[in-house]
Amino acid sequence: MDKEIIFKPIGHIESEFQDREEIPKQSVLTKDKVAKIILNEELLDGIYGLKEGDDIMILFYFHQSEDFKLKFNHHSGEVRGVFNTRSPNRPNGIGISIVNIKKINRNLIYFSGVDMVSGTPVLDIKPYIPELNTSN
Ligand SMILES: C[S@@+](CC[C@H](N)C(=O)[O-])C[C@H]1O[C@@H](n2cnc3c(N)ncnc32)[C@H](O)[C@@H]1O
Repeated sequence: MDKEIIFKPIGHIESEFQDREEIPKQSVLTKDKVAKIILNEELLDGIYGLKEGDDIMILFYFHQSEDFKLKFNHHSGEVRGVFNTRSPNRPNGIGISIVNIKKINRNLIYFSGVDMVSGTPVLDIKPYIPELNTSN
């Protein structure tokens, strides 16, 4: 399956981070920071039922990523394969962050736990339901 897949972003992130170097490595480290998803207006009905306090998974595109290496020195000190990391530099540049909704105002979804640079394209939003995530 070599077919290319084309996605159209459903919106983008607006955050206080203009530079990816200033962002902590995971969303768990930025629980005190609030950013927002600006959802494309025509998709507004798609967030019907989401509410303040819900945890969601944001799938996004690392639009500022650099060339990836398949194996490299990870910041943990180990050599790791890219699929054993959450590096932004990866073959398909897809990121996933679990964040908490603080407020929704029409197509603006405010959330805590941002680890994306401002302007990051959002590909999808899904509810985070821990019971549905099993390693068994
Ligand atoms: C280690 S990744 C983890 C992201 C996500 N939680 C995941 O696991 O897929 C987070 C880092 O990616 C970088 N980053 C954030 N937004 C980016 C973007 N749009 N393009 C490239 N790099 C980005 C920042 O340096 C940030 O610290």
